[in-house]
Amino acid sequence: MATRVLQDYPSVSIQDQTLEGIVDFEVLFGRSGPVEIEIGSGRGTFLVAQAQAFDQTCFLGIEWARKFYRYTVDRIGRRGLNNVRLIRTDAAQFIAAHVPDGGVDGFHLYFPDPWPKKYHHRRRFFSSENLARMLCCLKPAGWINMATDHQGYFEQMQHVAGQAVEAGQVQIIPFRRPAGAQDGEIVGTNYERKYLKEGRPSYTLTLQKQ
Ligand SMILES: C[S@@+](CC[C@H](N)C(=O)[O-])C[C@H]1O[C@@H](n2cnc3c(N)ncnc32)[C@H](O)[C@@H]1O
Repeated sequence: MATRVLQDYPSVSIQDQTLEGIVDFEVLFGRSGPVEIEIGSGRGTFLVAQAQAFDQTCFLGIEWARKFYRYTVDRIGRRGLNNVRLIRTDAAQFIAAHVPDGGVDGFHLYFPDPWPKKYHHRRRFFSSENLARMLCCLKPAGWINMATDHQGYFEQMQHVAGQAVEAGQVQIIPFRRPAGAQDGEIVGTNYERKYLKEGRPSYTLTLQKQ
């Protein structure tokens, strides 16, 4: 099979080192509109389908693996989806340093790396610390839509979310099924498709800022 030659599209890819301080999303996207961030966008399957379905929404994908990042920039650029931007960086650092408080309508976190070994659990993205930061970034009634195949990680998500529910910071709402989800799918990402073939179930959790 021929290897696809990946192209960079400077209008899509944001260079982390050029960012200073808090990002102005209207400048970043060259337009105004709702802003949604996907953390760990992988091969970009969610972003492609969702950006096509919601062309008035601005989507920012954050992906730290160079291979997946380049692949997704190429996919978005080829399709001319001008409501998507991609950045290759660590999502936790990015939202802590560059995302404005109250600037985001929603976060998407699909099949995040589970870090199954106990001494690696602190590397999991969905932690109390990152939830607190995401809640600051969200607009009133903003949401966080999540799915995982990993039961242990799901239990951690429920535990962390439960504390925020008790503190009156969030409420649990129904999962927002993405536009690209096909029959039998919940999300419609590459990892979900891989896990479905292996017969692994997925768990979802969606939180809304109170
Ligand atoms: C298991 S894959 C899931 C990809 C995609 N969401 C899907 O469902 O097909 C997790 C992705 O998150 C990326 N990732 C993990 N931690 C990250 C972080 N802190 N910042 C940015 N990307 C991260 C990984 O490189 C990987 O591509």
